[in-house]
Amino acid sequence: MSHSHEKVETNVGLMAVLIAVAVSFGGLAEIVPLMFQAEAIKPLPGVKPYPALQLAGRDVYVREGCYNCHSQMVRTLRFETERYGHYSLAGESVYDHPFQWGSKRTGPDLARVGGRYSDDWHRVHLLNPRDVVPESNMPSFPWLAENRIDGADVERRMRALKRIGDPYTNEDIAGAQAAVNGKTELEAVVAYLQGLGKHAPRGG
Ligand code: HEC
Repeated sequence: MSHSHEKVETNVGLMAVLIAVAVSFGGLAEIVPLMFQAEAIKPLPGVKPYPALQLAGRDVYVREGCYNCHSQMVRTLRFETERYGHYSLAGESVYDHPFQWGSKRTGPDLARVGGRYSDDWHRVHLLNPRDVVPESNMPSFPWLAENRIDGADVERRMRALKRIGDPYTNEDIAGAQAAVNGKTELEAVVAYLQGLGKHAPRGG
């Protein structure tokens, strides 16, 4: 036994191969079960593709790089669930392309932020965070109040998402322009934020 151990430890090539085997076994044990667990990849009850205005807001969120400072994934640790709410489940974000889980938290996690503040609070906060949180170092996003959402563009995005499998109905797509036309990017981002975590399981 001690002899074979010595063989492995004195042979770099053999050790590298065995390390690779050990590491990929760990990876397989984590990844493979997920592929067979229907509940992990199916949308949770009530989770639907984003309505037009929230979808537009989500795209602005990605464009502005909000994910550089905000994760959207509550971990399964006690201090996380007590602060934010139920830990995140894969079935909440099946219609997020790409998902916004992340691990970079200069600011708080946003997975459960929907409903925590009023729409007004969000508007003031996005235009100048220091007006509501004096010590905040989050940047201001004043241009969101001036830029209008382009309804035809949102409609095209919904069609593209439908093509890759999101169950948008023809009525959803037909109603997209009316739902977003004339709206500002600020309104869209607020609608998106207010929807986050809406279908999370209850409890901590
Ligand atoms: C440079 C880092 C940074 C960027 C980029 C950033 N934030 Fe923040 N955000 C913060 C920090 C820090 C806080 C905590 C202080 C505060 O509330 O302003 C915060 C707080 C928030 C909160 C309140 C969360 C809570 O639970 O209290 C929301 C909502 C929010 N940010 C949304 C956004 C959105 C939307 C964007 C993109 C348009 C964005 N943030 C971009 C750093 C950032």
